Amino acid sequence: MRSDLEKLKDEFLDAVKDVSDSLKLEELRVEYLGRKGKLSNIMKQLPEIAEGARKEMGQFANEIKTSIESSFSAAEQSLREREAHGKSENEWIDITAPGQAPEIGHMHLTSQAIEEVDELFSRLGFVRVRHPEVEWDWYAFESLNMPKTHPARDEWETFFMADGDKVLEGKKGKVVLTPHTSNGQAREMERGRIPIRMININKCYRRQSDVTHAPMFHQFEGLMIDEKVTIAELRGVLDFFAQNFFGPERKTRLRPHHFRFTEPSFEIDITCEVCGGVGKIEEIKCRMCKEGWLELGGAGMVHPNVIKAGGLDPEKYSGFAFGWGVERTMMMKSGLNIDDIRILYRNDLRFLKQF
Ligand code: PHE
Repeated sequence: MRSDLEKLKDEFLDAVKDVSDSLKLEELRVEYLGRKGKLSNIMKQLPEIAEGARKEMGQFANEIKTSIESSFSAAEQSLREREAHGKSENEWIDITAPGQAPEIGHMHLTSQAIEEVDELFSRLGFVRVRHPEVEWDWYAFESLNMPKTHPARDEWETFFMADGDKVLEGKKGKVVLTPHTSNGQAREMERGRIPIRMININKCYRRQSDVTHAPMFHQFEGLMIDEKVTIAELRGVLDFFAQNFFGPERKTRLRPHHFRFTEPSFEIDITCEVCGGVGKIEEIKCRMCKEGWLELGGAGMVHPNVIKAGGLDPEKYSGFAFGWGVERTMMMKSGLNIDDIRILYRNDLRFLKQF
């Protein structure tokens, strides 16, 4: 038994030398000194020792135990010191070093354009409003001189909301996601504050998705209503916008068109930037436009039926309206030639960070 004890001590001293972390050290302690450990295993021999020698052997075993314990404590102590030292070596921070600035984002391309449109029209006294995106059929169509079954409605590929009329209080027909911002016309007139100079910028939704159409896009809708508003005012406002948004050289033209809610109706074209409105560069057809003009969007003099639907007297009041796509207009300005308009809303930072 004596030699077993001595061997145990040597073995422990040997093992404890190599221990480099406190978890391993604890394992070692359990292995040697634990209740079912090596030492108590040896102690099981004690009763078999002759009575005369037993006491002495017990004392010897105690000495061995004490000596193992003290080298254990020593190892523990030096390990703790080493760990503390390692921390100060590895985990220091330089509090004088400059901090890491968080990455700061910026406004989306479309939001930038919206701000600019808003700012430009505000200089002419147009007030930005936001009329609902989730809307009754009445404001989106019927008030705009498009009765329930009128085929012109087909041009706005509209999303209807199932049971929408049960969700929105009051009953003005089915509920749609606004396919254009023209729903703001009757809504603004209903507020009854004349003269009206409104710019309604909002999201629009249409059931179309391809390289030139996103199912969600934005429009800005201008509406001016007062006594004796004429096409001359419409032209003035359009020219002001075109020259400030696109550049002082740009000109607009009105091309006859048809909308149910304006009479007369126009498409607004703007001179092409690439060819300067000529349509060709050194006898070669301009690659940007076809004949010197680019199409901006629709406009016209508000139809008397729409003024009536807005609760005003068409004998007394007249006005103009226009409604253009924000994305389209901003792409025409920047010359941004992207082969799929939907990339604007794919949240791909590689694209968005460029603007
Ligand atoms: N709402 C029309 C569209 O979405 C545009 C428009 C607005 C035309 C106002 C005339 C007047 O195409």
